[in-house]
Parts: sequence; structure tokens; C-alpha cells
Amino acid sequence: MQKNWWKESVVYQIYPRSFFDSNGDGIGDIRGIIKKLDYLEKLGVDVIWLSPVYESPNDDNGYDISDYQKIMDEFGTMDDLDELITDIHARGMKIIMDLVVNHTSDEHEWFKQARKSKNNPYRDYYIWRPGKNGKEPNNWRSNFGGSAWEYDPVTDEYYLHLFSKKQPDLNWENPKLRKEIYKMMTWWLDKGIDGFRMDVINFISKAPGLPDGKVMPGEIYASGSQYYRNGPRIHEFLQEMHEQVLSKYDVMTVGEMPGVDVEEAKKYTNPERKELNMVFTFEHMSLDSGPYGKWDLKPLRLIDLKKNLTKWQNGLNGIGWNSLYWNNHDQPRIVSRFGDDKEYRVESAKMLATCLHMLQGTPYIYQGEEIGMTNICFDSIEDYRDIETLNFYREKVIEGNEDPEQVMESIYAKSRDNARTPFQWSDKPQAGFTTGKPWIQVNQNYNEINANQAIEDPNSIFHYYRKLIQLRKQYPIIIYGDYQLLLPEHEQVFAYLRTYKGQKLLVITNFSKENIPFKFPEDIPFYANELLISNYKIDGDNFQIFTLKPYEARVYLGV
Ligand code: NOJ
Repeated sequence: MQKNWWKESVVYQIYPRSFFDSNGDGIGDIRGIIKKLDYLEKLGVDVIWLSPVYESPNDDNGYDISDYQKIMDEFGTMDDLDELITDIHARGMKIIMDLVVNHTSDEHEWFKQARKSKNNPYRDYYIWRPGKNGKEPNNWRSNFGGSAWEYDPVTDEYYLHLFSKKQPDLNWENPKLRKEIYKMMTWWLDKGIDGFRMDVINFISKAPGLPDGKVMPGEIYASGSQYYRNGPRIHEFLQEMHEQVLSKYDVMTVGEMPGVDVEEAKKYTNPERKELNMVFTFEHMSLDSGPYGKWDLKPLRLIDLKKNLTKWQNGLNGIGWNSLYWNNHDQPRIVSRFGDDKEYRVESAKMLATCLHMLQGTPYIYQGEEIGMTNICFDSIEDYRDIETLNFYREKVIEGNEDPEQVMESIYAKSRDNARTPFQWSDKPQAGFTTGKPWIQVNQNYNEINANQAIEDPNSIFHYYRKLIQLRKQYPIIIYGDYQLLLPEHEQVFAYLRTYKGQKLLVITNFSKENIPFKFPEDIPFYANELLISNYKIDGDNFQIFTLKPYEARVYLGV
């Protein structure tokens, strides 16, 4: 297998709005990030992924960009960003930026021009259609609720927006638009950044004719996603982007790809095809959702999670490369989701980290995960800020007359704001995030859960993450080893073996709050030499038959 720096790295995602506010306006900013680089260096991460900092009217917190080459006022200036890049590099770390090119903001100059007239030179940068029988051009649903089309009276046509109506989709069929995007990417790479995380990049090619989708019982709109996820020209577009831009630099790329499966991911990440390095799959993040999508809550079955991660581990091994994540700015906090954020918060956060970081792939840590930050439960919908959450509430409770309590249950479990409350730095007011009034409330548990406390406590989740990161640097088996699932039918234990150049690594994790008897399978040869890491004190070196404590995790190195 080819060795690459991005396979050997650990990535840390910063959501700038909620990381650290340096000027007291209640909003995190770039100078705030610069101030916290010591913290990230101490943690030991290699690459920082910055969620969008570009100019934006903030309909979707920066994922609606009005100028790709300017910095949002609230976040600082281009000089601040240049300083951040220099400081990150001076510490031997790298920085990747978010690339959001499925859509722009409706306040982007291209769209302002495009909507003026049907023959404006920018018209074809976007996707316009006349209405059908006085209605939208097709029945697709926006990912943020309602129709995916917005009527524009100026030219009597509709434009497509797979997200909010302030996020019109770009028309990748237009070679001129593609050229502009490549030019902009080149400008950023010449600035010295080390790669891109590409927002919903597998949505950029839409099926010709934009056919109607199938409407589920009780719904008004169809998902339509089969006509734009991994669409007909997607691989062609990515290969062109690679040839025109990416191939000229030693950078890392990861494509966010809702609806990608292993077979498609092999194509996206096989280096011979010259597309991307990694994709973010959503499959393991949808195992606790029912057929109606993320808000349709369903308990996770560990067997499903093991089956899914195993499929990805074995599927990409030797062909492409996995990204490993539990969290990001769109997902609820993992310790609240698959762990126990009360009695066993520390144990379960460490267990989940062990299970993920010992897999084959590049691990991603989302800000606050390394101190075990938890979901929030605001009393009132008024306290939520996320457009997806607010639209869902409006559609179900205000327009749909559904039971608000039940809708709030879904919001507590799945709202993106769970991940977006301010980073908890200390037990000072507002968790030390700001001296002003934060744009979204802090989680009130910051007195116990904060970075200062975590740094001081040698047994904290923070120090456990540090150790996981250091082990990866020390043992190539963690990066490159093959993977084999053990005990596939076990309902509480996720155990697997890694193998590399005559060495073996045994990972055992208990996903339950019960004491669970563990028995290593007799037919598999393994001899443990050394316990590399565990989240409880362990007496003796018996890995064969023992009782796992609640959320226990152990990693043995052996042969
Ligand atoms: C995925 C991003 O992660 C999410 O935050 C955003 O709302 C959508 N793409 C639209 O850009």
C-alpha cells in the first residue's frame, strides 16, 4: 500500500463560530483560533480543517458563500487568515479549507447577475427552469425542507436549491463555471493551504431532465436524491478538477458524500482514478434513523454498526482510503449518541475514541469531542439557531400540527446545534468562550466539562485522545494494518484484530453499561505482548477470558 502523509495524520475540525471569540462580540473568530493553537499542538493533531470562513450572509452559518476570496467580517480579515496559515505551518501542522461549490449564496455576485435576465452571461452558472402546470419544475424536496425550487418573478422561472433558498445550486454542466471554480481553488492552494474538505461534492452532477422522484406516503415532496447523488458526470468532473488543479500540489482531499456506498467510494478514492483521497460516508451515521430520515429516531443496534464499519474497512483496504469520524458540525455529540453522557461519560467517550482511532483510515476529531462535550437540550425552540432545525420545527409543529413534545425529542437527539454550542474552555462565565453574549447559548455543564479541567486531570478524555494520537505515530500497524472483525454476532462487544508485517493488534470495546463476559475466539491465533491503552486500570495480562466493565476498551499489541 502506498504511504502518504494524509494517511498518517489526525485531523481536527474547527467550527470557527463556536471555537474561541477574541473580541467579545459573542462569535468565534480567526484570531481566536490563533490564540488556541498551543492547545491543538498539545493535543497532537496534524491537520486542521476549517469550516467556512468566507464572506457570507450566514443563512447556513457560512455554507452559503457570497465571495470565495473574502473573509467574513465577523471572523476577521484575510491578513488574520494568512497569519493563521503561517502559524499552523510554523508548528509543523497543516490546514485544509472547506470548499463549498455545489451552491453559492444568493448574494454572490454571480447569482445577482444571473437573476437579472435570461440572457445575462451568468444565467447559466445556475440551474433555471420554467414552471410545470403552474407549479415547480419537479417534485424534489430541499434537504432543509419544502420544495427544492424557488420562483423568481423577475424572469418568471424557478431556480434549484438543494439546501435553503438562499443557497442556489451551481450548474456544473457549464464549462465556464467549472473553470472559475478551478481558478478559485488554485488561488487558495497558491496561498499555501494543504487541501480541501469538499461540501456535498457528490451532488454537483444532476441527472439530465431532472426527473420527478417517488413521493413517500404522507409526504408532499420526493427526495429526488437518486437523481443528484453520485450523478452521471460526477467522476468526470472530479477527474477534471484533479487534472486541472489538485494534481499540481501535494494536498489532501476529502469529499463529503451523503448517500455514497462502498462501491462508489472505491471509485472516488482509488488513486489510479485520480479523483479524491477520501470520502465522508453517512452510512454509519444513519443506523439510528428510520425510513423517514434523520429525525425519525431508532435505537442503534451494535451489530448493524459493526457490519457497516466492517464493510467499509474491508471494502477500501488496498484500494482507496477511509475517513474515520463520529462527529462533525452536522452530527449530534457521539458521547450522547452512542455512549452514556451521564454516569459513564468519561469511560464511554474514551471507549468510542478507541474503537474509531484503531480502525484503518484517517481519524477526524471535531472540536469538543476530545473533552467529551455533550448534546444540549434547550427548553425553547427560540434558543435554537440552525436553519435545518428551525425549518423542521416550523414544518411539523406550526404548519403540520404535530405534537411539539415529540418533535422536540427528535431535535434533542439530532439537531445540528448539539455540535454547535460554544467550545467549553474553562469554568469562567460563558465557559471562557467569550466575554460577550454568545451567538448560541453555552451548555450549562461547562463547570465540570471544560478544557482547563481536562488538561489538569491526567485521566481525562483529553489526555486519552493525546495518547491515541501518539500511538498512531509510534505503531504503523494502527495506520496500515489489515482489519478482521471478531465476534460479529455479539450484541454489546465490538472487537477486531489488525495485522501488519507479522504484528497483530487486538481491540476490544464494550458498547454497553453492563459488565460483559468476554471470550477471545479459540480458533484465531493471537498472543498478546503488551497492553497499549485502556480506559480502566487493568491487573494482569489476560486477554482471553475476562469480564469487561461498563464501556471498557482495551488494545493489545501482539503476534
Ligand atoms: C453539508 C455541510 O456540512 C452542512 O453544514 C451544510 O448545511 C450543507 N452541506 C450545505 O452546504
